[in-house]
Amino acid sequence: MTSAFKIRKAKSMDFDAVYGLLKSNNLLPRTLDIDDVFDRDAFSEMLQRKDKSVFVAESDAGIIGTMFLSFENMYRGAQHWCHIDRIAVDENHRRNGMGWTFLEKAADTGVKAGAGFLEGEVNIRNIPAQQMDTGFGFELIRKHPPNHFLYTARLDLGKWLEERRPKANS
Ligand SMILES: CC(C)(COP(=O)(O)OP(=O)(O)OC[C@H]1O[C@@H](n2cnc3c(N)ncnc32)[C@H](O)[C@@H]1OP(=O)(O)O)[C@@H](O)C(=O)NCCC(=O)NCCS
Repeated sequence: MTSAFKIRKAKSMDFDAVYGLLKSNNLLPRTLDIDDVFDRDAFSEMLQRKDKSVFVAESDAGIIGTMFLSFENMYRGAQHWCHIDRIAVDENHRRNGMGWTFLEKAADTGVKAGAGFLEGEVNIRNIPAQQMDTGFGFELIRKHPPNHFLYTARLDLGKWLEERRPKANS
């Protein structure tokens, strides 16, 4: 099934849909960086934070995708990061460009926030996410011990912007 969708910032009222998407994709606990609790209040609080951004994809079918971003060292130091914590696309709406559209949104948001890099972690067995990331231009830069199940994937936002800039006629 494919349908047109629009990506927008999440609102508190999106909690149930977002929760459902994270749960059905096994993306709920642990590394949401919210003390292991992901409830309505934690979600609302997260939406107010300057170091987080949550997006949803909305279509006639309702909320069909979500993405969580975190920013690190945005207000100090030279190295600014935008971290993709989660992307989940409803399984009935995959392979319709939504994952990629979320990555564009993440890169754009990162650039606007002054980040130099977009980063995420990928399970080495997660072939769809790996294909999506590398196809988009991420480099898989590091395996995480002890099990090496995770790769860090990194996109240089300066390079990404440069590549998107219209080339002068030669
Ligand atoms: C990974 C995920 C976000 C991709 O979303 P999507 O909307 O289907 O992705 P897109 O349609 O934008 O696909 C972009 C590219 O990714 C790659 N890709 C996506 N799904 C793939 C699959 N099942 N197998 C191989 N490559 C795949 C392809 O290169 C694709 O380009 P193409 O369709 O032109 O060949 C989605 O499968 C998902 O939600 N998975 C479960 C949650 C998850 O693993 N999240 C990522 C880690 S947090």
